[in-house]
Amino acid sequence: MGKVLITGGNKGLGHELVRVFYENNYEVFTVVRTVEAAEELKYEFKQKCHPIVVDLRFDDSIEKIKSVLAKITTEIDIVINNAGVPGREYEIENVLAEEIEELLNIHCLGVVRTVQGTIDFLRNSTNPRIINISSRLGSLSKMSLGEFGSRNFSYSYRIAKAAQNMLTICLNNELKSQGICVNAIHPGKLKTTSGSSDADLNPNEAAERIFNWIETLKISDSGSFTQPFVGDWPW
Ligand SMILES: NC(=O)c1ccc[n+]([C@@H]2O[C@H](COP(=O)([O-])OP(=O)(O)OC[C@H]3O[C@@H](n4cnc5c(N)ncnc54)[C@H](OP(=O)(O)O)[C@@H]3O)[C@@H](O)[C@H]2O)c1
Repeated sequence: MGKVLITGGNKGLGHELVRVFYENNYEVFTVVRTVEAAEELKYEFKQKCHPIVVDLRFDDSIEKIKSVLAKITTEIDIVINNAGVPGREYEIENVLAEEIEELLNIHCLGVVRTVQGTIDFLRNSTNPRIINISSRLGSLSKMSLGEFGSRNFSYSYRIAKAAQNMLTICLNNELKSQGICVNAIHPGKLKTTSGSSDADLNPNEAAERIFNWIETLKISDSGSFTQPFVGDWPW
């Protein structure tokens, strides 16, 4: 039985990823922020779903993830860094440092903490993969060409996803040679509460595509920024 850890599993894309992996016989570990969310997931998914209650903004999440995992398993095959929040301000006069700090903390440092909490378990897998749920809005290349220019996307979200993309590249540079596959995904424009006004994809459909794509991943694919079954995005 495969084992997957998914952050932000209580709603949106993360919840659909929990469902699709669970239905495909994976043992699912999922990071959520509240006891209520953990109880709901245990009720919905019964035996093979293990919520881990942590807030990825804080360093203690690393040891909490390790200690919960260690009680149940020695290995994790797939880590999906999905947790995230949208930003707000899109005009420089209104941008607040604390909003940028908050999004960098979740989208970039939250991924660092999750990888630090799971790396020993990934190393025990025969086919370890780390998938970072990025965004088209983190593409420096697309942004520099002025794409999406007419839309009011926040400074904080674009900066945080670009930072997360660099983290994906750094992780790939270090871990690919150790047999750990590391990739970034643009999941599509999702109809979730955090989705953009031009959203056109149901999160359940996106989760199915991501699941099927992850199943095909080989170590030679490590280091890509991809929209599953659509194509690669430029970094
Ligand atoms: N929606 C889109 O169109 C779109 C497009 C491209 C990329 N993405 C990315 O896809 C991912 C999922 O998006 P979504 O639309 O499904 O978002 P969502 O519905 O808002 O869900 C976000 C999840 O992240 C969790 N989370 C937020 N901050 C956290 C923290 N500090 N610690 C632990 N968990 C935390 C949330 O938990 P709580 O319920 O406790 O807040 C929630 O479970 C995000 O990384 C997003 O940036 C989304």
